[in-house]
Amino acid sequence: MKAAIILISLAMLIAAVYVTAECDPDAEGIPDCAELSDAAGTTYRNNWDPTHYFECDGSTVVREACGLGTGYIESSKTCVNWTVWEWEPVC
Ligand SMILES: *[C@@H]1O[C@H](CO)[C@@H](O)[C@H](O)[C@H]1NC(C)=O
Repeated sequence: MKAAIILISLAMLIAAVYVTAECDPDAEGIPDCAELSDAAGTTYRNNWDPTHYFECDGSTVVREACGLGTGYIESSKTCVNWTVWEWEPVC
């Protein structure tokens, strides 16, 4: 019984940390690839550097660079020409 309470508390703590990490405008935005099950093929915004984004290779975080003249845009989850790129709020 005690173990179950500890486990549930731990799970809630992890969930809370995860949710905050999802929307922390001051964080770089590095995805927790080990915790993300649907990570394959998904890209993640780098909040500090729009010329870069993150990807998961299994449980490993990979930093990717956008092509020359392009920036990563969250709404389309891809790199777009700077002429159409615009800043989007993190949260
Ligand atoms: C971005 O768009 C401009 C204007 O349409 C174009 O001249 C430029 O070649 C484009 N750059 C890239 C990297 O696609």
